[in-house]
Amino acid sequence: MTNSTLPVSVLFVCLGNICRSPTAEAVFRQKAEQAGLTLTIDSAGTHGYHIGSPPDKRSQATAEARGYSFKGLKCRRVAEDDFEKFDLILAMDSDNLKNLRGMSDPGHHHKIKLFLDYAGYQHEDVPDPYYGGKKGFELVLDLIESASDGLITSLQSR
Ligand code: 4NP
Repeated sequence: MTNSTLPVSVLFVCLGNICRSPTAEAVFRQKAEQAGLTLTIDSAGTHGYHIGSPPDKRSQATAEARGYSFKGLKCRRVAEDDFEKFDLILAMDSDNLKNLRGMSDPGHHHKIKLFLDYAGYQHEDVPDPYYGGKKGFELVLDLIESASDGLITSLQSR
């Protein structure tokens, strides 16, 4: 952390970095800006299936219908130095969390959390929508909007 305990950089992580984590990046960026928070926000995937690709068209259509922008987003894989660079690394599901812990030094594990810990729901995981239908993409967005609001409240209360 750069000053006191306030995180200034947040990395969202899912499996492919084309559905859930770029949606989280777009939603949280807009909500953080509206709340007047200056943060570095990025996203990445634990696997490299789609490196260099834009976010999934179904994620884009769902989020753009609610006013979020995916402009400039491109898929990348989690890099070793992300664990140094970012203050908070938020996993979309418990598999992503396990993989992130497995690929990082134990000294960085305190930064790695489940994003939905901030949503105040029973759900632990943002379900992978990739092989499902439209309803799955709407649920992903609902969960991400709630967790983004919770994360902003948590950052503001520090
Ligand atoms: P994401 O979804 O982890 O939310 O980006 C997926 C994207 C691609 C694949 C799986 C999940 N895939 O198997 O290619």
